[in-house]
Amino acid sequence: MKGKLPQAFYSPLALLGFAVAGISFGLILFLIALEFFAHETKPYMGIIAFIILPAIMICGLLLVAAAIWREHSLMKRGLAKERTFPVVDLNDPKHRTAVSMITIVTVLLLVFSAFGSFKAYEYTDSDEFCGTMCHEVMHPEYTAYLNSAHSRVGCAKCHIGPGADWFVQAKISGAYQLYSVAFNKFSRPIETPIKNLRPAQHTCEQCHWPAHFFSEKKVSGNYYLTDEANTLHSLTMLMKVGGGSAASGITQGIHYHMNIANDIYYYTDDETRQTIPWVKVIDKQGKEVIYSTKDKEEFTPPSEEMRRFDCIDCHNRPAHIYNQPDKMLNRFMSSGLIDPTLPYIKSIAMDVLEKDYYTTEEAVKKIDLYISNFYSASYPDIMKNRQDDLKKSIQGIQEIYSKNYFPVMKVNWKKYPNNLGHMYYEGCFRCHDDKHFGPDGKKISADCNICHTIISQKAGDETEMVSLSGLNFLHPSNLNQGVEYNQCPDCHGVYQKD
Ligand code: HEC
Ligand code: HEC
Ligand code: HEC
Ligand code: HEC
Ligand code: HEC
Ligand code: HEC
Repeated sequence: MKGKLPQAFYSPLALLGFAVAGISFGLILFLIALEFFAHETKPYMGIIAFIILPAIMICGLLLVAAAIWREHSLMKRGLAKERTFPVVDLNDPKHRTAVSMITIVTVLLLVFSAFGSFKAYEYTDSDEFCGTMCHEVMHPEYTAYLNSAHSRVGCAKCHIGPGADWFVQAKISGAYQLYSVAFNKFSRPIETPIKNLRPAQHTCEQCHWPAHFFSEKKVSGNYYLTDEANTLHSLTMLMKVGGGSAASGITQGIHYHMNIANDIYYYTDDETRQTIPWVKVIDKQGKEVIYSTKDKEEFTPPSEEMRRFDCIDCHNRPAHIYNQPDKMLNRFMSSGLIDPTLPYIKSIAMDVLEKDYYTTEEAVKKIDLYISNFYSASYPDIMKNRQDDLKKSIQGIQEIYSKNYFPVMKVNWKKYPNNLGHMYYEGCFRCHDDKHFGPDGKKISADCNICHTIISQKAGDETEMVSLSGLNFLHPSNLNQGVEYNQCPDCHGVYQKD
């Protein structure tokens, strides 16, 4: 046979190598074309198109090289056979069957491998992949995500955008993430805030529209104290979540002030954005008002270090919330998942949840052990007669642990501040603390009634207080002075900056 290429290229091994390399190359082109026409980029598609398939392609080429080498050494020893293509005679029924079989198998192979790589490509975009591929790393974020209001919103919807610049950025960070997981270079916990998160206008505001928030939202809570009786306090308030548009008449409330009437910019030299000393408000007429703490009065931050205040500055945990133990215990106790009639259950549960453990398995075991030991030592009656209540409550506490604490990644509420509110972290009080001064003695207000109105509260067995025009907050434990002037996180928060 006289081919254009050296003899060695026609050995069966080399032909196989060519086929493997050729098919992988075809699939790479196919995936790149798919991605080109897709609506959204898939950051980890690169794993298949640029890592797995090229690796297979290289194996194919190595096979060819090996075949050539083998052929050469055979030739040197004079053992090389004359390579000829088989003669196919389609008039011979045997040949005909063979040819049609080979054609069918080849076509099927091509279709299946195209389908397979398409499926793999789709999988890299799924939340399951994002959340479980790097199991240890993403375990906390994925677990919290599954328990959030956004568990049906894809990871990519918030984290990756469309367009060429996002394509490149996502490929680079995807590759870097792969490297850092492979070589164990990632930080525990993963750092927050994310510096280059997609702007909220492109994510949140595609589904939620600030102009379409109206009036107030009723928020109720039960709070149990850590005394023997787990004394119950309850509170109902109206959160002034309104936004609105002038056209429909109602224009006031949290979302109005921050997102519609004004553009607000702030400066912080704290990477975690927990201290905000300088704030600028620009209203729709372009009038600027600056508020700052006393030590930053003469200060003007460079414009590139100012951040536009958006949804994420309050809602920084829309999908990954690591809750405080008392918050979760209050919820579980009010819904009966933990029995609030067990003496000191809140207190002991707070203790065991906050202890240091190395792994979730260890925690789950020890939580059971500690609580059982406590009741058998202090309340042997309960240990004997209320086995089921105790068992159910222990399970509840274990569940709180495994959904909110991730010791392997060192993730818990102390590491990830939640800026919505002001009880455990500074949150709203980063600015609304009566310590940010503007012109003419104006301050960013810390008045308890600008954000919510308490309409009812009840302490233990006392009668419920109700008022539609708003009540003064009655702090559950008897603090000597009014809590209004204190920052709640001073007592309730232990956010740890590393
Ligand atoms: C509703 C929008 C949204 C969705 C959906 C979402 N995230 Fe997030 N994610 C965020 C925001 C907001 C932050 C915090 C950003 C900040 O504070 O800068 C964040 C932070 C993170 C972080 C950094 C660590 C941390 O907790 O701050 C990781 C990792 C992460 N997300 C992974 C995921 C994964 C994996 C999924 C899908 C299983 C996902 N996210 C889905 C909005 C989202
Ligand atoms: C793809 C659409 C989509 C995107 C993008 C999205 N959300 Fe949502 N969000 C929803 C839906 C749907 C709900 C209601 C879920 C429910 O009630 O269970 C919701 C609920 C909420 C709630 C109420 C949560 C609660 O616990 O009651 C808040 C706050 C919120 N979103 C903020 C955000 C923020 C901030 C972002 C941007 C980081 C965002 N959302 C992005 C669809 C979206
Ligand atoms: C100044 C802080 C702040 C900013 C900025 C902010 N929000 Fe909110 N948002 C809140 C507060 C506070 C609540 C009430 C939380 C609660 O349920 O207790 C809320 C509630 C919500 C809810 C639930 C409303 C309901 O009626 O259940 C959604 C959805 C929401 N915000 C979306 C957004 C989006 C989207 C943006 C950006 C355009 C945004 N928020 C900007 C503070 C803010
Ligand atoms: C970066 C600083 C900053 C943070 C953080 C912040 N705010 Fe504000 N807030 C402001 C400024 C500035 C104003 C407007 C003051 C003005 O009009 O001059 C304002 C105004 C408001 C108003 C209107 C007040 C009024 O007098 O009617 C509400 C309501 C509000 N904020 C709610 C919140 C809530 C809720 C949070 C926390 C989830 C929050 N803010 C966090 C800076 C902040
Ligand atoms: C700038 C707005 C703002 C101001 C000022 C403010 N709050 Fe709040 N407060 C909030 C928000 C937002 C939440 C809800 C957080 C959430 O949904 O978890 C909240 C929640 C609460 C809660 C319920 C706590 C919980 O986690 O269940 C109490 C009690 C409370 N506030 C009391 C006060 C008192 C007392 C003052 C005055 C010293 C005050 N607030 C001032 C915005 C504000
Ligand atoms: C001087 C310290 C201190 C300050 C400041 C403080 N608290 Fe408390 N708080 C306590 C103590 C102590 C308890 C009782 C804890 C217990 O017995 O469980 C408590 C209990 C509570 C509870 C009920 C327990 C629970 O389930 O969380 C709520 C709600 C609460 N505080 C809200 C607030 C709010 C809101 C603020 C800010 C306006 C605030 N506290 C400021 C010390 C403080």
